[in-house]
Amino acid sequence: MSAPSPMEISLQNPQDNEIPDQNGVIAVDSAPSPSLPHDKVLVSVEVSLKPSSTARIDDVRSAVERMLEKRSLSYTDGPVPVPPDDQFLTENVQRICICDTDEWVQNHEILLFWQVKPVVHVFQLSEEGACEDVSGDGQPSTFNEWILPAKEFDGMWESLIYESGLKQRLLQYAASALLFTEKGVNPFLVSWNRIVLLHGPPGTGKTSLCKALAQKLSIRFNSRYPQCQLIEVNAHSLFSKWFSESGKLVAKLFQKIQEMVEEENNLVFVLIDEVESLAAARKAALSGSEPSDSIRVVNALLTQLDKLKSAPNVIILTTSNITAAIDIAFVDRADIKAYVGPPTLQARYEILRSCLQELIRTGILSNFEDCESLMLPNYGSLKEKLNMPEVQDARTLHMCKQLLETAEACEGLSGRSLRKLPFLGHAALASPYGCDPSKFLSTMIDTARRERSELPD
Ligand SMILES: Nc1ncnc2c1ncn2[C@@H]1O[C@H](COP(=O)(O)OP(=O)(O)O)[C@@H](O)[C@H]1O
Ligand SMILES: [Mg+2]
Repeated sequence: MSAPSPMEISLQNPQDNEIPDQNGVIAVDSAPSPSLPHDKVLVSVEVSLKPSSTARIDDVRSAVERMLEKRSLSYTDGPVPVPPDDQFLTENVQRICICDTDEWVQNHEILLFWQVKPVVHVFQLSEEGACEDVSGDGQPSTFNEWILPAKEFDGMWESLIYESGLKQRLLQYAASALLFTEKGVNPFLVSWNRIVLLHGPPGTGKTSLCKALAQKLSIRFNSRYPQCQLIEVNAHSLFSKWFSESGKLVAKLFQKIQEMVEEENNLVFVLIDEVESLAAARKAALSGSEPSDSIRVVNALLTQLDKLKSAPNVIILTTSNITAAIDIAFVDRADIKAYVGPPTLQARYEILRSCLQELIRTGILSNFEDCESLMLPNYGSLKEKLNMPEVQDARTLHMCKQLLETAEACEGLSGRSLRKLPFLGHAALASPYGCDPSKFLSTMIDTARRERSELPD
């Protein structure tokens, strides 16, 4: 019997007949037309508690469910206002957010309240921040640790913009893997594992996506796993030439992880960023250009990871900046391999739109009175707006065109460069205060062209 081939998911292969269900799991929509399904659509609703709240999760969940029942509106991604007359909710709840309806809305246009069965996830963000392993002797630390869901990663998932449901599919695969484990599926009969590999050019959001995915899963699975940690292993530091203690550190690190994993209510994410550096170090050591110490360290790390991956409550997240096959056994066996490419025109437009909206919110861009409430249309409704110029506010329409032009000018730039562009554009302005958004966009187009011209071929 041959091993199942890894599930390749990529931005180039959209599967558009999927709809989200509970836990972010996507169910295949078997309805032949966009007609209504027999069953209700399960929609995730995330409820973040105030840091001061000591309310019971179950009580908050019921209160939110009751509140949603009363609300006869359509469901779209985004915040739901906490009703000011509900004292219990206003005291305890920071934010209520509808998630993952995007794909449904794209295929069916609208999701009405009676079609929906909300699945409410209540959580409280940990404010502890990263806990570094400091060895105290000035050496780089070997790992960072977070308790999830962490305040630091709040909003990260939403800020990452990809097309064709990449995020949704990642969530689905990870959720399925956890479900199979949970239900005790016999791995000799059905094989799967919990290793994720995101590969693609630098700056496309792979590291961020891993962290955001861990955060999402910690929220969606908190009733099964009330405790959740993310350990980010700093692979570079582990085998730096000057790091003679590496072997011991790997052992120490994995002993710690093993202890976490033994607690069955813990869900543990281990992030190994840029795994290609492990393969490179091994190769270099074999050819004699690196101390043989480092080969032992890399091998120790790989053995430990191999051992760890049989634990049911561990998800190993890896990234690689090279798309070619990586000569590391455990990555080779990753079930979830996703190519993360540079943003497409639509993604670029959306990234820049979110940047602009933020500069408007903070008042860095403004010149007219109601500027704060200015909402630029998303890419989906852009075409329609451009086709019916007569019904649009002329100023908004002009800005949309400029934004689109900027997004077009940014072809080839990474997500990371795009998020920096508004800052560079602002720094190039003659006057930094109260700039007109439209003037700002003209500067951005020039900045984008300049940035692009500096890209290596
Ligand atoms: N597709 C994207 N959508 C939104 N932001 C992105 C995207 N890709 C990259 N970014 C931005 O670039 C930053 C750096 O991404 P990072 O996760 O370090 O990329 P990588 O690990 O692929 O090099 C992110 O924090 C994010 O702000
Ligand atoms: Mg990275």
